[in-house]
Amino acid sequence: MPSIARPQGDAALKHQREFAILASLDPENTGKVDQKDMEEYASRYGCESEVKKLSGDEIKFEDFAQAFHKDGQKVEGKGNCFGYAAKDDSGKMEPYKFERRTCDSNDVHIKITYSGMCHSDLHQVKNDWAGATYPMVPGHEMVGVVVQVGKDVKKVKVGEFAAVGNMVDSCQSCEYCKQDEEMFCNDIVMTYNSKKGKGPGEVTYGGYSSHIVVREEFVLKIAPNLHVPGGAPLLCAGITVWSPMRYYGCDKPDVKLAVQGLGGLGHMAVKFGKALGQHVTVISRSDDKKETAMKELGADDFLISKDEDAMKQAAMKFDAIIDCVSAPHDLQQMLSLLKPSGKLIILGIPTKPYEITASSIIPKRRMIAGSLIGGVKETQEMLDFCAEKNITSMVEVVTADKINESFERMHKGDVKYRFVIDVQASMINEE
Ligand SMILES: NC(=O)c1ccc[n+]([C@@H]2O[C@H](COP(=O)([O-])OP(=O)(O)OC[C@H]3O[C@@H](n4cnc5c(N)ncnc54)[C@H](OP(=O)(O)O)[C@@H]3O)[C@@H](O)[C@H]2O)c1
Ligand SMILES: [Zn+2]
Ligand SMILES: [Zn+2]
Repeated sequence: MPSIARPQGDAALKHQREFAILASLDPENTGKVDQKDMEEYASRYGCESEVKKLSGDEIKFEDFAQAFHKDGQKVEGKGNCFGYAAKDDSGKMEPYKFERRTCDSNDVHIKITYSGMCHSDLHQVKNDWAGATYPMVPGHEMVGVVVQVGKDVKKVKVGEFAAVGNMVDSCQSCEYCKQDEEMFCNDIVMTYNSKKGKGPGEVTYGGYSSHIVVREEFVLKIAPNLHVPGGAPLLCAGITVWSPMRYYGCDKPDVKLAVQGLGGLGHMAVKFGKALGQHVTVISRSDDKKETAMKELGADDFLISKDEDAMKQAAMKFDAIIDCVSAPHDLQQMLSLLKPSGKLIILGIPTKPYEITASSIIPKRRMIAGSLIGGVKETQEMLDFCAEKNITSMVEVVTADKINESFERMHKGDVKYRFVIDVQASMINEE
């Protein structure tokens, strides 16, 4: 095992990509890396021959950095960050350079390694919800390595793994911020497409980019076993289903749970339901996902929403349904599956309003509820639970040049179950 000491001073920032690769190879900072792991990384990043030339028991960080170095992608525009942006509501994503602020006293600068692609990104680049500002750099599910911290930062240190989700700032003093529900703060700053950002442009840019600078309060800590592509989607898909499961009491083992829409959010709900000991049924449009749902995610049952007989037989069977569907659909049909006092928890955000009759909820005292992401404290709680149980998202890793194609496939529901961009491999900034 060759030894490579982590560099001191500003080298982590200067060579942020290579520093993050070293931290990934040696998460415990032992000063040693496994030769095989190093070669595996080299083949992923297309620098096998350079890395093979690194010889001896002791490798200098400068030599390691040079071997893993890749020239930045040439893109029009100026700035210290490289990402992918939509320029208009066609939603077509293109390489884009922009400026991020430098680290302030309570900021953390994170080199992004993996970035999840949420269906909300697709809604937003296409301006489905109105209020889009272009160019828009989406992405609110990212994990990475800390390469610089401001002088007052206590939560994380340089070289540690960290993550960022949907929010990057809030007032920190209103009643919601005080009760760890920052998502309800009137001054909430979302990770992208938020006009209250600090610094250049004052519009926030998200995780489809080479790095991010975030105030400490919105940085999440992650264990090394979550610093993998499947760890990134926990930051939105994970917390968005975890939070209502906790809030609405759907986290008990005796809850009979159904999950509708087996995409990024839905498959995490299945995983959490199973980890909590529940009986979990998936409701999907076809049987395409049946095998993976039952065999790999551990679902107990699988219902096809178009199969009217099967749906009738499932009437009044569930305590709760988590609805993760991204498009308009029939809520009445879903409500009929609930037991008395059952809860239909809506998480998907289609553009058209739903139609329901009073009689679908009144006689059986059923409840329709909604939920928005989750607070920072609760996100950390969910991440710690996942680290302990080794729960990650089931992902298809893509390079940045596949973002458009991945959006198209997401639109058709052709994803098992989250696309994650390998940022380290495919968004190379000039350093
Ligand atoms: N509430 C929040 O805080 C929050 C946070 C994140 C995301 N969201 C929203 O939640 C929704 C799901 O996000 P996601 O990232 O999980 O999306 P996703 O991975 O694309 O999954 C959505 C699933 O919905 C089902 N579906 C798609 N089109 C449908 C249609 N026309 N009719 C019926 N079912 C359809 C599909 O499941 P099957 O193939 O199994 O049918 C699909 O896999 C999006 O609207 C997103 O914006 C909300
Ligand atoms: Zn999301
Ligand atoms: Zn607040």
